[in-house]
Amino acid sequence: MNSFPQKLHNKLKERKSNNAFRVMNSSNNLIDFSSNDYLGFSVSEEIYENTNTLLSSENLKRNGAKGSRLLTGNYSLYNKTEEYLSKIYRQEAALLFNSGYDANLGLLSSIAQRGDVILYDELIHASLRDGISMSHARAYKFKHNDLQDVQTMCKRIKKNNHVSNAEPIEIYLVTESVFSMDGDSPDLKSLVSICEEHSLNLIIDEAHALGVYGLGLVHQLNIEDKVFATILTFGKGLGCHGAAILGSTFLKEYLVNFSRSFIYTTALPPHSVATINTAFQELVLDTKAENSAIKKLNSSINIFKTEIKLLGLDQHFIESNSAIQCCIISGNEKVKSYSEKLKEEGYDVKAILSPTVSEGKERLRFCLHSYNSEEEIKGVLKTLKILIKK
Ligand SMILES: Cc1ncc(COP(=O)(O)O)c(C=O)c1O
Repeated sequence: MNSFPQKLHNKLKERKSNNAFRVMNSSNNLIDFSSNDYLGFSVSEEIYENTNTLLSSENLKRNGAKGSRLLTGNYSLYNKTEEYLSKIYRQEAALLFNSGYDANLGLLSSIAQRGDVILYDELIHASLRDGISMSHARAYKFKHNDLQDVQTMCKRIKKNNHVSNAEPIEIYLVTESVFSMDGDSPDLKSLVSICEEHSLNLIIDEAHALGVYGLGLVHQLNIEDKVFATILTFGKGLGCHGAAILGSTFLKEYLVNFSRSFIYTTALPPHSVATINTAFQELVLDTKAENSAIKKLNSSINIFKTEIKLLGLDQHFIESNSAIQCCIISGNEKVKSYSEKLKEEGYDVKAILSPTVSEGKERLRFCLHSYNSEEEIKGVLKTLKILIKK
C-alpha cells in the first residue's frame, strides 16, 4: 500500500512551512556543545571494561533480557543494581525503567486516580506531560518556577474541594530539578516547604541534574525523604541508557503492579544494566576525586558564564548555573541559520525550535561538558557575538 493519508501529508507540509521540519542528522566530528554526555562517561574506557568484567562475573554474557521483568527478564544483577541505587540515594527502593520517557509515562499515567489533582510546571518535559495526559486526574499547570502561583493554586484547590465526607483527594506536584530547555532550577527547598504545608506529593525529574550536581540536586540538598518520587535518567550525565524511579517500597510495589510501561515491555538488556551499575560506581568515585569530571564540568560552566558577561551577551541568555545555557534567538529561521553558521566554524550547537519551545522563545542551546576546553568555549562565544552584532 503506497498511499499516505492526505491529513498527514498536510501536517508534514505545515511543519515545513513553519521551518520546523525535523530530520535526523548523523553524528559529526564538530566540537560538542550539544550532547547530554556532560561528564564524557559515554566514552569512558574504564566504564566499558568494568561493565564487561561485571557481566562475566554475573555469568550474564547474553544479548537480551528474554522477557519483561515480571516474566523471564529478571536477573540478580537487576535487583542488585536497584538495591545499590536505593542505598546510595538513602531511599527505600529503586525501580529500573527502559528509558526516562518510559519512567515518566509509567509513573504519571498510573499514580494519580480519578478525582486527584496534578499540578505541573508549564515547562516540564514532553514525557511528563504525556504521562499526565494519560492519567485520569485533573491537571493544572503553574507558571514556570513560580512558587507564588503554586501557593495560589493550592489554596484554590483546597477551597473548591472542601466537601466533608468526600474521599480525600491526593495532589501531586511535578517539576524538574534542572529544566531541559532552559537549564534553570526551581527553589527546591521552598518547594518542599509548600508541599509540606499543603500535603502535596512531590515528583522531581533529575534528568539534567544527575552528574552535573553529583548524584543530583535532591541528594545534594538532602531532601530525599521529602520527595514522593525522584526520576533519574541515565542517557545524559551517566552517558549510558535507562532510568530509575526512587521512592518508598510501597511506590515500587505500586509501579510493578500498575505502571504499564514497566509491565508490558522487554526488560533492559543485561549489558545496559551492567553499564548503569558501573557508571554509577564511577560517578560515586568522581564525586570524591581531586581532578574529577564533575569539577572540570563546573569549570566549563564558570568559564562560559564569565565569558558571556565579558562579551556583553548575558542579556540574551536565560539565567542558569547548570550545564545547559540557552541564548534566545527569536524565530525558527533565524535560530537555524545561527546554528548553521556555528557549524561552519566547527561548533555543534543545536537550534531549539518552536513548537518544542514557545514561539518567539526559539533558542541556541549550549550543552557544556567536562571535556570542553577554555579555547573552545571562548571560540564559540566569539563567533556567537559576531552573529548577534550583524
Ligand atoms: C527532563 C527529561 N526527562 C526525561 C527525559 C527522557 O529521558 P530518556 O532520554 O532516558 O528517555 C528527558 C530527555 O530528553 C528529559 O530532558
